[in-house]
Amino acid sequence: MKNIVIIATGGTIAGSGEAGRTTEYRAGTVAVADILKSVPQLGKLANIEMISLMSVDSNEMDEQKWLQLREVINQQAARDDVDGIVVTHGTDTIEETAYFLNLTVNTAKPVVLTGAMRPATATSADGPFNIYQAVALAADDQTYDCGVVCLFSSTIYSARDIAKINNYKIDAFSSLNDHAALGYMRDAEVFITSRPVSKHTIHSKFSQLEYSALPKVGVAVYYAGAPAEVLERLGQDCDGLVVIGTGSGNYSQAWRQKLDALAERGVVVVRSSRVSNSIVFDEPIFDPHDHFIGVNTLTSYKARILLMLCLTQTNDIAAIRQTFFKY
Ligand code: SIN
Repeated sequence: MKNIVIIATGGTIAGSGEAGRTTEYRAGTVAVADILKSVPQLGKLANIEMISLMSVDSNEMDEQKWLQLREVINQQAARDDVDGIVVTHGTDTIEETAYFLNLTVNTAKPVVLTGAMRPATATSADGPFNIYQAVALAADDQTYDCGVVCLFSSTIYSARDIAKINNYKIDAFSSLNDHAALGYMRDAEVFITSRPVSKHTIHSKFSQLEYSALPKVGVAVYYAGAPAEVLERLGQDCDGLVVIGTGSGNYSQAWRQKLDALAERGVVVVRSSRVSNSIVFDEPIFDPHDHFIGVNTLTSYKARILLMLCLTQTNDIAAIRQTFFKY
């Protein structure tokens, strides 16, 4: 049997509230070891080791916690007697943590993130089955060198493309921009149907590096009539800025002028769109310009992570554009 390490970080999967209810609960209050007891079939899938790393609502995740998690995953993955890793995590920011790990962990061994939409105390809690399938997925040879993946409701998602698209159903995730999910599961059986083409884990230049902190990158949301002054404030605090524009990554002339001024002061600006299925190219459709970087098919919040990592190496726009193209 394979040896799988489960690293618990908190979230609704470890949430508790009034018995039977799916609302009014506190995330990260139940030990994942107790949830495992409700899934005795796990013992037939793999030998399990547990690490309770933290117990937080995923809205408390930040860059330091990502770095801490990355280090523990790298340590565990380096062990000859470990075949795969499962991370339990809150669903609100799981897509950000998964993408950070996808870019920075230095292993081809399976790393599977999962969580739950219902707390452990709810009727038909979804956590136990997600953990069961996540362990089966981490123990399966097909998951080797697939990058970091997420498992929800029998669907296998790449960390790059997964997004939470629903906040009240257990089937709460999707793969954006017409990118297919990586596969699906039937109980413990794994069916990988496609593999990621963007760089990840051992193929990512960011997996070979050490980080003690990450550069500051802000996110600015444009809406009709948004005042441009907000950019001034963000520009003072940040080395980079991701702008969430409309349509193809658009904004007003006033915003463009402020962004030009920030770019001239050395702030690296990345353009993205509030449209959930969108491609944002380097040249704005209505306003050809060369200061800025388009996210291509990344979501804004993942673009922020990639930009932070890029800025640890360079602030050269052409080089960062190349990276956005490949990652
Ligand atoms: C969280 O993200 O920690 C709370 C919500 C959830 O896990 O579904």
